[in-house]
Amino acid sequence: MRIIPVSSGKGGVGKTTFAMNYALALSRTHKTVLIDMDTGTSSLRNCLDAPVQKDLYHFLKKNARLDECLTPLGQKLDPDSVFRKFSFIAAPKNFIYDVVNFSKDVKLRLINGINDIDADFVILDVKAGIDYNVIEFLPFTNTGILLFTPKNKAATVTASEMTKAILFRMIRLIFQSTEVLNRHFPNINENDTKLFNELIDLVEDGYDEQLKSLDDFLLMIEDEFPDKRFVHLLRHAIEHFRVYFVLNMFDSIEESTDTVIKPFVENIYSTVSDKVIIHNLGWIVRSEEIYRSTVDAVPFEIANYYRKRKAEKRKKRKDSDLRSLLGLERAKKHRKKVKTENTSEEINHQVDLLKKMYMNGAGNDPATNLSFITDRSLSISQSMVHRFGMRKIYTNEHFLEKFFTEMKQHPEISTGSKSLSR
Ligand SMILES: Nc1ncnc2c1ncn2[C@@H]1O[C@H](COP(=O)(O)OP(=O)(O)O)[C@@H](O)[C@H]1O
Ligand SMILES: [Mg+2]
Repeated sequence: MRIIPVSSGKGGVGKTTFAMNYALALSRTHKTVLIDMDTGTSSLRNCLDAPVQKDLYHFLKKNARLDECLTPLGQKLDPDSVFRKFSFIAAPKNFIYDVVNFSKDVKLRLINGINDIDADFVILDVKAGIDYNVIEFLPFTNTGILLFTPKNKAATVTASEMTKAILFRMIRLIFQSTEVLNRHFPNINENDTKLFNELIDLVEDGYDEQLKSLDDFLLMIEDEFPDKRFVHLLRHAIEHFRVYFVLNMFDSIEESTDTVIKPFVENIYSTVSDKVIIHNLGWIVRSEEIYRSTVDAVPFEIANYYRKRKAEKRKKRKDSDLRSLLGLERAKKHRKKVKTENTSEEINHQVDLLKKMYMNGAGNDPATNLSFITDRSLSISQSMVHRFGMRKIYTNEHFLEKFFTEMKQHPEISTGSKSLSR
């Protein structure tokens, strides 16, 4: 199983729309459950015209099992049962305080419930922005899928802050307790832990000229502490951190470069680290059909399937028609326009990727966009290098256990011998 949270810096960027269509697209081949975790807005049930018997309210307040709260699409939306591997868990109908503001116990119950779901993919439509409720459902080592839109620059800035918060959450956890660290680094003492945490605070606050990013922090502790294992440990955590993003309401490479890619990469590199790996999974164009699907409460992916099926005959399009359908002519035009002289290597790399996607048929119709993103997700979720999606939602304790176990498998980290004490 892979659990993939879909998050965004701000609301209104199309998170629910994307999460829903993405889950539906995955469900054509894999058992997929979509959960509306944006409790308090209950937007999913407004976008999906399926009869809900039980929802998160029943799980959280009435002791129902989570699998009893699954809603399939049903005959009305899916008469051919082609989306039979899809089901969703709706948020409660009304605003209920302790369903919106989970207590620790409720959160743990939900985490365990999600971990026990029998499915290939669980897609979480989480609240926009970052707070205590959201962060515990996000992976420690990546961002799940972060949704951006060139239409909302402020959401991009918030998204880079979210990325920072997720990574810092992991690092804080690693350095949180001298007792835990001592199990792996016997020479470390309370003062060391205190100092690490103070330095991390300074980096996160972003006001110290000498400590702008985690890269500065690494250089500093490298000087302070002779035990190289410590620096390796941190490097390991940062260099394995990945961000996966999708551009929604995409309409040109230039616009996305200026309002999303450039500010995002620059912010992450300057305030977090230039070791963070950033992956673009693709984009969804701004589309009237997608917009209409929200109004009609029939998701685009479903409407599109049934529209196609209705068409009596589909002529095989000639190669040249296909090229224009996939937007290759447009791609050539855009390629000339993009100015890359003054952007960093990573920005160039991201823009090149966008162009490659264009050339490889990520195209400019939303159905092709979605299948491109779905195919890429399926392929990277099989990869050993990528850590896309979570096998389960880890609690802090589980994460630390896993982290230090994996750390031991790295010879550079496990064999350092010098003492940490100065
Ligand atoms: N690619 C798109 N093209 C056109 N309209 C879109 C697209 N994605 C989302 N929308 C529209 O944007 C609005 C907000 O989408 P929604 O999914 O509710 O956002 P969020 O969950 O981020 O608040 C909806 O009206 C939706 O139809
Ligand atoms: Mg939403």
